Formats: sequence, structure tokens, C-alpha cells
Amino acid sequence: MSRELTVLVLGNGGREHALALALHRDPAVVALHCAPGNPGTASIATNHAVDATDGAAVVALAEQVGANLVVVGPEAPLVAGVADAVRAAGIACFGPSAEAARIEGSKQFAKEVMQAAGVPTAASVYCTTVDEVAAAIDRFGPPYVVKQDGLAAGKGVIVTSDRDAALEHAADALPAIVEEYLDGPEVSLFAITDGVTALPLQPAQDFKRVGEGDAGPNTGGMGAYTPLPWAPEGLVEAIMRDVVQPTVDAMAARGTPFSGLLYAGLALTSRGLRVVEFNCRFGDPETQAVLSLLESPLGEVLDAAATGRLAEVGELRWSSDSSVIVVLAADGYPGVPAKGGAIAGPRLFGSDDAVHIVHAGTSGEAALTASGGRVLGVVGRGADLSAARASAYAAIDELDAPSLFCRRDIAERAASGQIGTPTL
Ligand code: AMP
Ligand code: GLY
Repeated sequence: MSRELTVLVLGNGGREHALALALHRDPAVVALHCAPGNPGTASIATNHAVDATDGAAVVALAEQVGANLVVVGPEAPLVAGVADAVRAAGIACFGPSAEAARIEGSKQFAKEVMQAAGVPTAASVYCTTVDEVAAAIDRFGPPYVVKQDGLAAGKGVIVTSDRDAALEHAADALPAIVEEYLDGPEVSLFAITDGVTALPLQPAQDFKRVGEGDAGPNTGGMGAYTPLPWAPEGLVEAIMRDVVQPTVDAMAARGTPFSGLLYAGLALTSRGLRVVEFNCRFGDPETQAVLSLLESPLGEVLDAAATGRLAEVGELRWSSDSSVIVVLAADGYPGVPAKGGAIAGPRLFGSDDAVHIVHAGTSGEAALTASGGRVLGVVGRGADLSAARASAYAAIDELDAPSLFCRRDIAERAASGQIGTPTL
């Protein structure tokens, strides 16, 4: 049995609501606080109006509420060193140091770590001028992949066969990475690590493009599902062996051990698996689907990672169900989202077995309005992906939120067996 936990979750998105829901289910979690949180977290935890990227303010709040575990949701506080500040105050923290968070904060740093660790990833060129980008994209050929080096909330990447569009994107994204194009289905695998031991969560797939059929610009993620019925045998083991453990070991060898959640975004290409990106935190919206199936106590696991005891935790336990999350975004997203749209309907708080709603960009209490890009996530569960999709879309059809839109094809190809099993 774990120690009793008073947990402070930092962040205000759908991922943080999902973390709070899973922590709330853990009997070891005796008190739950969120900062700043959202109307969804307010229904299960105490929200506090604190700037999550301000280390001193976060430490003061953690001390005030008696938190003995701080869980950092988003990348911005991690890159800003908030986990370092919390640990320096003697409080256990789930989340990497600022140095280790560079694995997400700089795509070029991630490439250097992967090269040192022998981790397979797309060939790439680091560019500081548009002329260098032009030379690099002409070398790789179309489709062109141009990525902003620094943090961009999932919107810093363009994948296009339009050379002018690639160069236009590059002008606003310098310094930038130009990469070879990776084909094949994408997988998000999250690993919890204490810097030495790493423990995989169930793999998921995310839908990055705003439009149905994967059309339009990249977003933070419009939906996700888990598990992957098309996954090749041994997928998780291969990713842990070839990607996660070598990366964790390389980070430790550099003197910047990575403790927290290592998110491996991968493409299963015709030439084998390749890392598309690393993130230094739970993925959004995959986390909402993945954690809805977790049967192990999340607080205990995150606490073990934060205190260097992850080897004591056995394999995680999962429901055999499938889970699908469909994101409802405000009109205009991923550009400037329309704010203030009314949201009404059943299930905006609470949940039943088949479906629950996660808040991401809502404001208000009784009368909710949209206040962000991704506003709600509807998580459906069922015996298989078709049943889980049916639950999620039925709940969406009951909502009255005319300023929001969603993709109607989340997990559709996987549910109907249209994704072929790649070879590892
Ligand atoms: P990233 O922010 O690096 O995850 O990129 C966002 C999305 O762009 C990925 O999830 C992919 O869908 C796409 N993408 C990124 N890099 C590549 C690549 N080298 N080849 C093909 N698609 C890519
Ligand atoms: N779902 C993509 C991300 O969290 O970055």
C-alpha cells in the first residue's frame, strides 16, 4: 500500500482533467488539488488560481495545501523548471527537470539524444535561414516536413507537398528542422519512468489534423483511441527496447536523467519504427482515452516514479475494453477560436460506465461557455472500438454546443479493420 497522497495537479486542459479523474479513483489519494484547473476538475478537486509556470507560486501553493506529490501536466511549466523548484522545496514531483524537458523543448536536442542512443528517427537538417530550409527540402524531396525547433503546442509542424507553403511556414518557424517524410501509421506510447526504470502504458493513436480524412492543418489532437487492434505482436516491447529504454539510459548518461512521462510519438514505416517526436509529458488527448482504461492506482504509480521506486511497481493493469475520445473544438481552431459559445446538455459533469466528458477549454459553473481552442473531449468506452465510438458520438449528438465542431471519423478506420498490420 502506498503512502497517503495529497496531490496537486498543474495545468488546465483535458489531459489534466483526465489525470485528476484517474487520481480521484485511487484510494491512496486523500486530497486532490488542481492549479489552475478547469470547471471539470472543480467537480472532483479544489481548483486554485495559480500560474502553473511560476515555480515559486507553485511551491507556495503546494506547501499551503500540504501536497506531498505534484503532478505537472503541460510542457510549458516543465520547460520553465517548475519541477526543479518543487523538488528543491523537498516535495516529490512527477515531471522532468528543465534540462530533461528539452527532449520536447528543442527538437534538435531530441535528435542529438536519439543519435547518441542509436534510436531510429527521421533523417533531419537543422536550419537557421529560409535558404537553408529550401536547400534541405530540395534534398529530401516531397512531401516536405518542416518543424519549428521550439515549443509550438502541436502547431509548429507542416507536412506538405506544396514547396511554397513549406517555405512560407519556415519563415515563421526559424530555427527549424527539416526532416525526411515518414510513411505508415502513427503510434503514441507513453512510458512512466523514474530515470532508470520505465513502465509502458497502453499504446494509442492520435488524430493530429483538424479535418476528416486527415485533411487540413495540424492541431494539438482532435481525437484518439486505445488499444490498437491492428498493432503488430510485440509492438510495445519493441518500442521499449529500441526507443524508450535507450533514451532513458542516454539521458541518465548525459547527467540529465529523465524522470516523469516520456511520450514517444512513432511512425511504423515500411522500413521499421521511427521516432517522430518525443514529448516530456502525457499526450493530449490520448491520455483521456488511455487513463480511462487504467485499473492500477495512478497516484501510487506516479508517486513511485517521482520518488525513484518505480522498480517496485509491477506491470500496469488494464481493462480489456476499448476507449475513444472525440475532441470538440471551437470554430476557427487551430487558428483563432471563437470564444463565448454556449455549451449545454447532459453529462457535462460526472460519468457513467460508457461515456464521460472531459473539460479542456470551458468557463463558468452552471452555464458553461467555450474559452479555448479544444473545448471538450467526449470519451466513449465499449467492448470494442465500434462500441466505444458509438457511445462517444451518441453523447456528442446530445450536446447543444453550436459553436463547436468535431471530426466524425475518429477511430473509424481502425474499428472497421482498414488499417493493415505493419511489420516491425
Ligand atoms: P510533431 O510535432 O513532431 O509530432 O509533428 C506533428 C505531426 O506531424 C506528427 O504527428 C505527424 O503526423 C506529422 N509529422 C511530423 N514529422 C513527420 C515526418 N517526418 N513524416 C511524416 N509526418 C510527420
Ligand atoms: N496528442 C499530441 C500531443 O499531446 O502532443
